[in-house]
Amino acid sequence: MPMPKNQIRVIDLNFETSIPEEAIHARVKEIGEQINNDLADKNPIFLGILNGAFMFASDLFKQITIPCQITFLKLASYEGTKTTGTVKQLIGINQELKDRTVVVLEDIVDTGITLDTIVRQLSGYQPKEILVATLLHKPEATKREVKLDYVGFEIPNEFVLGYGLDYDGYGRNLPEIYTLIKD
Ligand code: IMP
Ligand code: MG
Repeated sequence: MPMPKNQIRVIDLNFETSIPEEAIHARVKEIGEQINNDLADKNPIFLGILNGAFMFASDLFKQITIPCQITFLKLASYEGTKTTGTVKQLIGINQELKDRTVVVLEDIVDTGITLDTIVRQLSGYQPKEILVATLLHKPEATKREVKLDYVGFEIPNEFVLGYGLDYDGYGRNLPEIYTLIKD
């Protein structure tokens, strides 16, 4: 049987459209306008978190009309000592962040553990302030509370992909957000 038009298969799982492309773009535009108003005189530096946030960062950045900069960071995991388990370290920071208004751009905040790690490590660079813009947020999944300044969409605690988000590396190219179909 052919798949319905709004469904796709990625590797071994089926997904259906949950946030269409036009809705994403409209919301990204709104967030851009808010940031233009809020940070007009702050010369912000945006920090896109790779890989997932590349598409959101690119679309949002095009909406920014105030003086600003952008750079991209990655969280690298490596095995720590037996007591600490996996350690995650931010790599790619070669800009001066001291006394800057930093806007972290994330694809999704799920448990909040990743973002908490990022914000803690960024604090060490003594920025003036750290703001967070995330396209998606799963409030029901929260394990660590992190202040979110701009949220695109609050979504249920279900696995999603597309628009930069992946399933095992695939699906990032999809222009809309898809949700896993549970069977
Ligand atoms: P957290 O540390 O649990 O908040 O998870 C953050 C990271 O997990 C995100 O930056 C994503 O890379 C990944 N992630 C969390 N939920 C999803 C999802 O539903 N689809 C794809 N990736 C996800
Ligand atoms: Mg991510």
